[in-house]
Amino acid sequence: MVNAEEFIEEAKDEISEQIGDAHAIIALSGGVDSSVAAALAYEAVGDQLTPVYVDTGLMRKGETEQIRETFSYMESLRVVEAQDRFLDALEGTIDPEEKRAIIGEQFIREFETVAKETDADYLVQGTIYPDRIESDGEIKSHHNVGGLPEVVDFDGIVEPVRDLYKDEVREVARALDLEEIVAERMPFPGPGLAVRVIGEVTREKVKVAREACHVVEEELEEYEPWQAFAAVIGKATGVKGDNRVHGWVVSVRSVESRDGMTARAQEIDWETLQRIQSRITGENENVARVVYDVTHKPPATIEYE
Ligand code: XMP
Repeated sequence: MVNAEEFIEEAKDEISEQIGDAHAIIALSGGVDSSVAAALAYEAVGDQLTPVYVDTGLMRKGETEQIRETFSYMESLRVVEAQDRFLDALEGTIDPEEKRAIIGEQFIREFETVAKETDADYLVQGTIYPDRIESDGEIKSHHNVGGLPEVVDFDGIVEPVRDLYKDEVREVARALDLEEIVAERMPFPGPGLAVRVIGEVTREKVKVAREACHVVEEELEEYEPWQAFAAVIGKATGVKGDNRVHGWVVSVRSVESRDGMTARAQEIDWETLQRIQSRITGENENVARVVYDVTHKPPATIEYE
């Protein structure tokens, strides 16, 4: 990419040419790649594009509100309130791969409904260059709308940022005036908080993970981690007031990485760790203890499932 402004103009011309008078649809994930692809396509074809944001109930704290605000200028924006459908579909499932499969299938179902309603001919995707090259044979079993073209018969797929690296996408995001938070946000897994609660996904565990992730993101911002988050990893005994309780164990993780393929656990000072512990146990009465994960990748993965 030579410069962001030039890239934007060329990308818009190419999108207009591809889509013409037809209708297009894009899934917004809250991540920078799909946000940039959507903003470019919207500037190119306006309301011929329907940006769809599916609230799975597994999103970060404030994410849905943030999306509504950032993309409020797009009149055709659709926010699908699917929280109950996802959480109901996940009920009783503990196997990590099954959890991912259920989320992927539900996502496609939600998205398919809107694609059919709007008669979408084109699918716009925020695929970037590293998504297209095979990396270490590691393939995620869930990639948002990966299986969609098999379900809906599109005339074509439009991938305006397919040749860009992550840092270039961020540069374009800034040039497009997408809010700072969109341009700088940490990567977040497609299956969302479902991979940050071990075992069955319940509303209570998701709520604990969401609040704890928020605390960790806030407290560790100055360490500039590749990713910092919290996960609900089990139950253990604690004392609250005069009572022994069987509460949640929350693990805090903060890693440095270049591409997510390998990662190093970050060294965090004791005072910060204690502040995180006290906020998480203080704000969630059912959390009995907080631990810090010191494992690099490998041998661990970044997420817990
Ligand atoms: P792991 O946990 O495998 O994660 O070390 C490596 C990076 O990938 C992210 N991740 C995902 N991203 N869909 C995604 O788009 C997924 O299903 C998914 N699972 C993990 C993870 O957050 C980390 O940045």
